[in-house]
Parts: sequence; structure tokens; C-alpha cells
Amino acid sequence: MRKKIVAGNWKMNLNFEEGVSLFSEIVNMVKDEVVGDQEVIVCTPFIHLSTVAKMSENVKNVNIGSQNVHQAESGAYTGEVSASQVKSVGVEYVILGHSERRAYFGETDALLAEKTNVTLKHGLKPIFCIGETKEERESGKFFDVIKNQLVNGVFHLSKEDFAKVVLAYEPVWAIGTGLTASPEQAQEVHAFIRETIANQYDAETADNTTILYGGSCNPSNAPTLFSQKDIDGGLIGGASLKSRDFLDIVKVFNA
Ligand code: PGA
Repeated sequence: MRKKIVAGNWKMNLNFEEGVSLFSEIVNMVKDEVVGDQEVIVCTPFIHLSTVAKMSENVKNVNIGSQNVHQAESGAYTGEVSASQVKSVGVEYVILGHSERRAYFGETDALLAEKTNVTLKHGLKPIFCIGETKEERESGKFFDVIKNQLVNGVFHLSKEDFAKVVLAYEPVWAIGTGLTASPEQAQEVHAFIRETIANQYDAETADNTTILYGGSCNPSNAPTLFSQKDIDGGLIGGASLKSRDFLDIVKVFNA
């Protein structure tokens, strides 16, 4: 059975002390309240990674992710951080292709394919984000947009490597807007993604792929979203900055 995951994306929020304090609340709540097998991933800014990775060492089902890596192995890339560097501090996951990186930092599918390769090469697992803009949704072309993001970003991978990828469907119009895709809208796209994977690889690979939903997910809407057949958890932005809200989302899988 595919893994259920709730991942938090802190984005560019919290100074070092605030981040360590939030993470320690999360760890304590996970220990006290989580009873299932769901995995909790916390994707912090680079400055927190080494410390929170150490804090999570003996905590069952809690892992750490970075929000980006550079596509090169190392070298003269002032201000960038490499996959081997994040790996060396105990990180396990890397968010790639977040719509904010695509929109504000010009990250293309071709660049993201390179980042996916370097991420996997260093034994890290990508949380690969895909999703359509408001215009693409309204024009009805969103299935094509999502398929192209898959084809150009991750479908060059071997079946073995693809099996290490977590996908996150994040409709851009729902991110940080308070507008959530309805459970039916999200399920429709998740089912389409799974079918597209089955066509590219095979039914077993599709069935084993964890596909997260992201975009204004909160403790009120998570239960219905996560109960959809093809939705395996969430990528949580705003609500991951509040330990109580984040844990209530994680606990949807306790039941
Ligand atoms: P949000 O962000 O939950 O604040 O909408 C989700 C994301 O960007 O991953």
C-alpha cells in the first residue's frame, strides 16, 4: 500500500529560534498524539535543516525536507545549496517544482528534470509539485498542463527511480489564497495523474505512488480531501506554521 504523508512547507518564514521551537512542539505532539503509520515531513528553510534533522533522529515517522536544491553537484554558484550538502545534514526529501519557484524564479520543466536527477543521485526523495494556474483551469486545458509537467519533469526516470518520487498536486489558484479545490475537483485530477503514471510505467507503479494535495489545506477541509480515493495526504503551507493546526491535519490519518 502506498504511504500516507502530511508534509509541511514553512516557505521563507521563522527565524532560527522560532523554527526550532515550532519543530519541538511538532515532535512532542507527534509522540503524544499520532497513532497511525502516516509519515510527517517538515520542509524548513536551509538554516534550520541541520538542527531539526538532529532533533528528529529518534522520532518515528518524522522526516525532514529542504525546499530546493541547485542542479549542479558543487562549484561557483554563490548563494546556492547542493543536494549533497542537504543530504549531509540528514535531510531525506526535497520539494521541487513548487509553483512559487516556477513563477518567481523561472524554474522550467527542463531545469526541474535536472534537479530531480541530482536529488535522486544523492539518495534524496523529491516531492515534485505540479498544478495549473487559474487561467489554465478556466480554459479547460489543465489536464494537458499537468501531463506536460509530468512528462517533462519526471517521466524520463526509470521505474525504480520514479518509485522514490512523491507527487504533490497543487492548483496554483488554491495556494495561500484560502480557495481550496473541492474534494471532487482534487480527486478528478489525482485520478488523472494516477492514470497517466499507469500509462507511462504500469498499474502497480501508479498504485504505489503517493500523491499529495496542496493549496489552502486546513484542519477543517483535510478530512474530506484526504478521504478521496486517490489523495494520499497533503502539502501544507500556512497551516504548517501552527503546531496545533498541522497536527490536526496529520491526525486525519489516525482514524
Ligand atoms: P498553502 O500552501 O497551504 O498556504 O496554500 C501550500 C503550498 O504552497 O505548498
